[in-house]
Amino acid sequence: MSKARIRILFITTVIALLGVSQTLTAQFRGARDPGVRGGPPGAGGAIAGLSGEENTMFEEGLADFSEEESVADGVGPRFNFVSCAGCHAQPATGGTSPAVNPLVARITSDLGFVGNGIPSFITANGPIREARFQFNPDGSRDGGVHALFVIAGHKNAPGCNIRQEDFESQVRNRNIIFRIPTPVFGAGLIENFTDTTILNNLNSNSLLKRAVGISGRVNRNGNDGRISRFGWKAQNPSLLVFSGEAYNVEMGITSEAFPIERDETLSCQFAKVPNDGTPSVGQIPAIVNFANFQRFLAPPTPVTIFTGATSDSIAHGRKLFTNIGCALCHTPSLPVNQNATVVALRNQGQAAYLFSDLALHAMGPGLADDILQGAARGDEFRTAPLWGLGKRVFFLHDGRTNDLDDAIQAHASGGNTKFGPSEANAVISIYNRLSSGDQQDLLNFLRSL
Ligand code: HEC
Ligand code: HEC
Repeated sequence: MSKARIRILFITTVIALLGVSQTLTAQFRGARDPGVRGGPPGAGGAIAGLSGEENTMFEEGLADFSEEESVADGVGPRFNFVSCAGCHAQPATGGTSPAVNPLVARITSDLGFVGNGIPSFITANGPIREARFQFNPDGSRDGGVHALFVIAGHKNAPGCNIRQEDFESQVRNRNIIFRIPTPVFGAGLIENFTDTTILNNLNSNSLLKRAVGISGRVNRNGNDGRISRFGWKAQNPSLLVFSGEAYNVEMGITSEAFPIERDETLSCQFAKVPNDGTPSVGQIPAIVNFANFQRFLAPPTPVTIFTGATSDSIAHGRKLFTNIGCALCHTPSLPVNQNATVVALRNQGQAAYLFSDLALHAMGPGLADDILQGAARGDEFRTAPLWGLGKRVFFLHDGRTNDLDDAIQAHASGGNTKFGPSEANAVISIYNRLSSGDQQDLLNFLRSL
């Protein structure tokens, strides 16, 4: 039997298995992403059931997460932005890239970082992006974040004369990739999942997964061997570690967790190192505040109906999401840790509806960014959690689209000499065989989250 015939047989069997009753005639693509859902943000508040003390930790964390830092606080010498909340903004503090890019709107104007140009991949209505270079000039791997801006030229940075990196030649050489901010709503529930929960889920439905070519594996933290779970490649184990790292990488502020300046040019240091330490006995350092805020952020609240989508359509879309195999990676819910220290993190109806298995999947050359992080290879990404999708403006690790259907299509790609085919290929071809009415229901469901 030819390869193509085997594939068709596969897909047909799987569709039968999954109980999809739609006719298999290819339909014209009439379904449309309803766009960012109107109405209240449905995110940004504290998780229900926090104690009074924990609520105060949330509020203080929110204040630090939102605070704009300056050169005197240690921003730079190189940095991407001046506050956590500036990048984690949509639809509320803790979220992701807003529709209007603060990097264009604010860096050189009111923030006064006039020694900078705005790189071509940062546009007024495009996503906030951080940049990584794939390779060094000598051909060895780079892979690290290259901060976009310098403090040189700012009125509070006299004598500092480092220059912005030459991003345009990296763009021309196709040696640069991008990442957009991931939202942190519900992050405390993700942080608390046991490794056993994640592994049991990954090992479930194994026949079905194998039949459609889905495998997946976890990323692990190098030293203690536990499952890491934060970031586009699940490269990071905890909110505290991510916070310390982000403070240094995104804002250029060193802390007790990440004490070494990324650019040690002496004429560009305007604060002692680490820039931000424990303020005094009994006071919480900024990186712990950031982690507390994120840990106590409630998960996004989905809706059952919105302008443009009926509750029947959304309910049907939810069934299709499982029936056609999206849920084999985007696991609708995982049981919360009943042994969590924070009582509120145990009591969330026993489950977190994150729509992710938190595992890595090979997504083919179309999405591959050729960056290695921990165990994650160049074509592997963490199944993106889909909670909060209704309010998202940009999708996929590099923010390449603001259209849900494009994001779905980008899951499919055949292999090339460097990377194998995407694990999602079979599921996406089933999606493409749905009637446009069914596809619409699925998109409506996604925008209800
Ligand atoms: C310049 C924009 C920018 C700033 C400023 C920023 N972040 Fe982020 N954040 C990102 C990007 C981009 C990612 C995705 C990184 C990746 O996985 O490659 C991210 C991811 C995260 C994640 C991972 C969430 C998840 O589940 O994947 C956490 C936690 C986080 N940031 C915390 C912070 C904290 C705390 C601060 C402030 C100290 C901060 N960020 C400042 C852009 C930013
Ligand atoms: C093989 C596992 C797998 C399957 C099957 C799969 N996805 Fe994904 N999905 C991913 C991964 C991994 C990402 C992140 C990819 C990236 O950003 O490069 C993702 C990202 C997304 C995003 C973008 C989310 C964001 O944060 O930007 C949407 C929307 C999405 N998937 C919807 C679907 C739908 C709908 C289906 C079924 C038709 C589906 N996915 C099937 C693994 C999968």
